[in-house]
Amino acid sequence: MAKEKTLFVCSECGGTSPKWLGKCPSCGAWNTLIEQVAGGSGPANNRFGTQYAALAGVSELATLSEIEATDVARTPTGLDELDRVLGGGIVSGGVTLIGGDPGIGKSTLLLQAVDALQRAGQNALYVTGEESGAQVALRSRRLGLDHSQVQVLAEIQLEKIIATLDATRPAIAVIDSIQTVYSDQLTSAPGSVAQVRECAAHLTRFAKTSGTAVVLVGHVTKEGALAGPRVLEHMVDTVLYFEGDTHSSFRLVRAIKNRFGAVNEIGVFAMTERGLKGVANPSAIFLSQHAEPVPGSVVLVTLEGTRPMLVEIQALVDNGGPSPRRLSVGLDRDRLAMLLAVLHRHAGVACMDQDVFVNAVGGVRISEPAADLAVMLAITSSLRGKPLPRGFIAFGEVGLAGEVRPAPRGQERLREAAKLGFSVAVVPKANAPRKGTKEIEGLTIHAVERIEEAMDV
Ligand code: TYD
Ligand code: MG
Repeated sequence: MAKEKTLFVCSECGGTSPKWLGKCPSCGAWNTLIEQVAGGSGPANNRFGTQYAALAGVSELATLSEIEATDVARTPTGLDELDRVLGGGIVSGGVTLIGGDPGIGKSTLLLQAVDALQRAGQNALYVTGEESGAQVALRSRRLGLDHSQVQVLAEIQLEKIIATLDATRPAIAVIDSIQTVYSDQLTSAPGSVAQVRECAAHLTRFAKTSGTAVVLVGHVTKEGALAGPRVLEHMVDTVLYFEGDTHSSFRLVRAIKNRFGAVNEIGVFAMTERGLKGVANPSAIFLSQHAEPVPGSVVLVTLEGTRPMLVEIQALVDNGGPSPRRLSVGLDRDRLAMLLAVLHRHAGVACMDQDVFVNAVGGVRISEPAADLAVMLAITSSLRGKPLPRGFIAFGEVGLAGEVRPAPRGQERLREAAKLGFSVAVVPKANAPRKGTKEIEGLTIHAVERIEEAMDV
């Protein structure tokens, strides 16, 4: 293919330059010039590349009621936990981005999924840019997928990949990973923002026009963003993130965006000798088993998607130097700073000169504010060196004024805790079962309205 001309376009102002410059000649912003294929017309083409080209031909007007709304056809992948996050299965013509740290299990999961789909009669193609065909075959043997009929293509050049896809028209194609794919239309290195964006745009367009479901694998950088190209997130239909501690065997797959289903549903897997196995009942996997209650440990009942889960929150408060540290793993650090301030102001618990470390056990990330109460109790418990009673759980959001606000679906959380044998709970008043309604068996509930009351308990 003849090389098309490329242009460098400023992502701030849209100004262009024929060659790369550190500073945009139009607006003076630094480091904003990104290479793009020139040609086509108008700034729209420059800005979005070819991503929306499939829409360009559609210019007839129609009312919404005239357009036939076909329900999206989903094909279950056969891995229940993955289907749960996808909202039922893979959608034909849909593009899914799956991100995660290296070595967390993205390739393993996808190989298992495409094999299951292939066995169900769906044609699957696995494009690998990171491993050779032999390595993928080795992995498939290890996973016990002998005689797999999945087709494998070891290729990193976009044009060749698209040509193969066009010729074979699989029902599902996995690109492992998008950062290794490059287009020879651009001079930038594979993995650069320009390359990743251009390649993803081409593959998206292919998915929309051919009906092939495309799954892109993307690596996450240290900061937690998909390496450079966060830009991918808005191009694709579904974004899934793999979470978990590589040292423990549990893995979570979380939907961040899903045009075809609910977000914040999670799938839970365990990494075994023979690949990832779904964990259908994950509520108790994030608890570390202490023989005796220890200071600084509180069990939180959190809600992940539609399932309540119990996660142990650990805190360690220790004498710090002149500039004490606040560190949190799995919880928001800004929120931690806020909670420490509330704790000081409203409950008289001062940690100003202390190092404070907070950790959610098992590598889970907890984003819901309902974790506040458990975090504050764990910190106080560690500071005072006093463990909380055996079988203790807590949840609830804490406001700046020290008030304890209710968490969504409190009854469900309490029932799950009771089911697992927990016996004492500190919860927001509005979440406690109302007088006269059925009590939750085996659970003593302390309903609190303010943080001070929680500390007294
Ligand atoms: P992988 O899928 O290669 O990760 P990614 O594609 O996200 O980089 O996962 C590799 C890890 O999984 C590796 O550390 C070994 C482990 N593993 C198992 O424990 N059991 C298995 O059956 C397989 C295939 C891998
Ligand atoms: Mg991989």
